[in-house]
Amino acid sequence: MTTLEEKAYAKLNLTLDVGPLREDGYHEISSVMVPITLCDTVTIHLGTGEPWQARTTDDSIPTGRKNLAYKAAKAFYAAAGADPDGLTIEIEKHIPAGGGLGGGSADAAAVLRALNRHMGCRFSGEELERIGLEVGSDVPFCVRCAPCLAEGRGERLMPVHPMPDCYYVMVRPNFSAATPELYRKLDNMRIPAHPKNREMLHALELGDLREIGCQLFNVFEYALLQDHPELFQIENALENCGALGTSMTGSGSVMFGIFENFDFAATASMSLMQVGYQTFLATNFREEV
Ligand code: C5P
Repeated sequence: MTTLEEKAYAKLNLTLDVGPLREDGYHEISSVMVPITLCDTVTIHLGTGEPWQARTTDDSIPTGRKNLAYKAAKAFYAAAGADPDGLTIEIEKHIPAGGGLGGGSADAAAVLRALNRHMGCRFSGEELERIGLEVGSDVPFCVRCAPCLAEGRGERLMPVHPMPDCYYVMVRPNFSAATPELYRKLDNMRIPAHPKNREMLHALELGDLREIGCQLFNVFEYALLQDHPELFQIENALENCGALGTSMTGSGSVMFGIFENFDFAATASMSLMQVGYQTFLATNFREEV
């Protein structure tokens, strides 16, 4: 039996714009995305001689063939035309599910990266991203795990300047968001304003954290803020603690703030925890070279 281990990093959408519904049922999106240090640990046992299994430490996440990591392994071996003779995936979860942090996609991407490395990099990065897209729209970004502008369904990735050093405080409101429903809600409303990706990319080039904070913008907030005023309170609390900007990630419901200063970030995290929210503190994930 062989055991592989891989970290699965969460993502944040610094901007997220949603365009029209396409014929294939997906929407055109445009999003500046970054990987952060909040991560799950994915362990894969190969050659177990047993039926395939996938399980996690979070009871709210599907196990077995409905799990995205399981689907990723299936897609990988189908593309490779190989059979591992039994496989078990165990995921130690730290990324909350249903929050827009891309946890399931990150786990799927970690499986693809680990299996590909084990098979002597059988697939190029681009090929691996294409396999990832069969599993979910955010999986190609998670396979690449580097700051990008994502377009199309989320699979057209253009590298962008990395974020300057900073701290992120993520706050999980007491409800989860159902992604397809929120896309439908956006289809049925007029979106009053859109993110300015060009300005965001320029701010990244300059490493201007203050301006990056000003440019954070996610149109999914329009679909959620009205029904969930607590999101305003979370944003206000983060700003009062010194956040340079706040936004929602993905289709929510997790809100985040960016901070230049660790002490301010830690205080924000603690004070929101004290009023009953689950909070997470992270920095930028950077590939070791
Ligand atoms: O690709 P994924 O399975 O993560 O997408 C989940 C759902 O989110 C899709 O079924 C679709 O309703 C919606 N979606 C979309 N446009 C995108 C990505 C996702 O409409 N670009």
